[in-house]
Amino acid sequence: MEKVIINGGKTLSGTVDIGGAKNAAVAIIPATLLTRGVCRLENLPDIKDVNIMLGTLKQLGAKVKYINPHTYEIDTTPEVDTEVPDELAKHLRASYYFLGALLGREKCASVAMPGGCDFGVRPIDQHIKGFELLGAKVGFRENAMVEVKAESLLGNQIYLDVVSVGATVNLILAAVLAPGLTTIEQAAKEPHIVDLANFLNLMGAKITGAGTDVIKIHGVKQLKGCTYSIIPDQIEAGTYMVAAAAAGGEVIIRNVIPKHLESITAKLLECGIEVDDDFDDEIHIKSDVRPKRCNVKTLPHPGFPTDMQPQIAVLLSVADGTSIISEGVWDNRFRYVEQLARLGASINVEGKLAVIEGVEHLKGAPIKADDLRAGAAMFIAGLVATGTTEIRGVEHVDRGYEKIVEKLAALGADIKREIVPDPAGSLNEVG
Ligand code: EPZ
Repeated sequence: MEKVIINGGKTLSGTVDIGGAKNAAVAIIPATLLTRGVCRLENLPDIKDVNIMLGTLKQLGAKVKYINPHTYEIDTTPEVDTEVPDELAKHLRASYYFLGALLGREKCASVAMPGGCDFGVRPIDQHIKGFELLGAKVGFRENAMVEVKAESLLGNQIYLDVVSVGATVNLILAAVLAPGLTTIEQAAKEPHIVDLANFLNLMGAKITGAGTDVIKIHGVKQLKGCTYSIIPDQIEAGTYMVAAAAAGGEVIIRNVIPKHLESITAKLLECGIEVDDDFDDEIHIKSDVRPKRCNVKTLPHPGFPTDMQPQIAVLLSVADGTSIISEGVWDNRFRYVEQLARLGASINVEGKLAVIEGVEHLKGAPIKADDLRAGAAMFIAGLVATGTTEIRGVEHVDRGYEKIVEKLAALGADIKREIVPDPAGSLNEVG
């Protein structure tokens, strides 16, 4: 187990490079099963979640060849198992993408009910409804295994009752090889949905409308291998934008798609931060005054991302005035507030609303990362707080941020990692 120690109060300056998108990578890795051929995936982030997905693919029988830390060649020609073992599935919510991918390829799959960051109830009813509409039977076996099976699949019209990233991905995966036309209505529009569709189209799929709320999939007979580079990570980029805004200084965030960051840019501008996004693949942040208050409502894309909610809360904790955050995606995503309170933040949570009275300073203290994005927020809090902040539970953060300690140190943060001889509290829940 490790902890991170930050001596806060230092401004940030320099350039930080953003890696490939975690949530695109964890959908595209299982999607390689839809061909019997070789796919070369580039710009994969070198993070725990990606390694678990690649490990699962290997365990199922695919050949996974390391080329460099961000590039792998995946050969899915061999026969593959259709059961994803519980030890792998429980680490990663995205393991349920093997349901859609294996259903598409082999017409059957079983995966243990996925774990995930604890944001309240995380149902998969929309995935199940969609699989059934495509012709599959869905059952639950012992040990919480979900089993999907079909004699054959056939395209159909699927209306999602909630906008779900996971259900949209799973249904695209299940439908690309199903004869006929599948229409997904009220589909999620996140950049990683578009990236998955672009990857599959390069393999020969016929998917249109990705990035809008109606996706149409004309089933094709087979897909071929391809070489594909994953898009930059919207949330990693947003995290460094908010870190620079909160800690102060001048930072260039490189290898990004500014269009994907518009909702974050808009909120930072409202807070009085200077943001220049008039570049093809960079965003420049300059912050030298106390941020102004603003209200934030999280929504599915193109709304403000729920995965940036804890990070912006840190900025608003030290803003001038009272801000309200309204969580529009998850039932329970304010658990981290307790940790920020230890640093002196003044936040009241009422259901899915948090009212933040900005304070002038946060003060360093021992805190913990409860999950991936909450953990990223604790790093930002440590940068902002005066004195020393010690953060435990950093293994959650390593799931989604490559070399975060090194990247922040290169921007001038006083930050280091230390091993803690404490076996309790190790990684058990991820999302
Ligand atoms: C994805 O989770 C992301 N994970 C999450 O990011 C992100 O918070 C979330 O989308 C929302 O943007 C990955 O992409 C791997 P959903 P997912 O299905 O797919 C309800 C991170 O930090 N719902 O879009 O699990 C659900 O309860 C992670 O990188 C149903 O009711 O989220 C929630 O309220 C954490 N029935 C809402 O929809 C269903 O069948 C959105 O969930 C499915 C979902």
